[in-house]
Amino acid sequence: MDNIHTEFHRMLGREAKEALLKQHSTVYWLYGLSGSGKSTIANAFERELHKSGHLTQILDGDNIRSGLNSNLGFSDEDRAENIRRIAEVAKLYLHSGLITITSFICPTRELRLLARSHVGEADFVEVFVKASFETCAERDPKGLYAKASAGKIANFTGKDSAFEEPGDADDVLVLDTENQSVEDCVQSLLAVHKARQIPS
Ligand code: PPS
Repeated sequence: MDNIHTEFHRMLGREAKEALLKQHSTVYWLYGLSGSGKSTIANAFERELHKSGHLTQILDGDNIRSGLNSNLGFSDEDRAENIRRIAEVAKLYLHSGLITITSFICPTRELRLLARSHVGEADFVEVFVKASFETCAERDPKGLYAKASAGKIANFTGKDSAFEEPGDADDVLVLDTENQSVEDCVQSLLAVHKARQIPS
């Protein structure tokens, strides 16, 4: 960081952008196993927000890994760098006044804490999209569980690579996709969103 002089203090602030957009920006940090329903819920939530006049942005695992993070794999180190970069991008969107929805496996509590601390406690809503490994393997929307069980994918989350569920003490909204419909999950998110908006 030697010889780096940030310019944030001279730039137009987040408040001015939020006022322009008439919304309070937030990062909704969705995480869970592959096939748990993260992307489906993120997309449905975004469409509802869009319908009610909000400017949003989704950051999604496969999309980011085919662009910004195409040099990263699935080792613990690469997953940590993946999440660090995503949290930094989410923070940029946050400061642009956007409502940002991220959708990544983000498998460990340590990584979620890292994301939370990059984004900032007040602006971070942690959302666990819950479904068991067995359910996700049954759904297998991309055929990845079949490939992993045939030994064709290294470090597959939940098989060779750990996934830690949040603890009871964690500040987290749980969306249980084995027992709740997509609509119910979106309603839970919209309730959080509503509570966070500045009254107009
Ligand atoms: S992480 O753990 O947060 O860094 O992972 P993420 O960036 O969300 O990437 C997950 C998507 O990558 C595909 N994929 C794998 N997932 C898990 N384990 C392994 N080894 C793997 N290899 C490729 C998969 O399509 C994941 O997308 P989702 O949307 O979760 O199904």
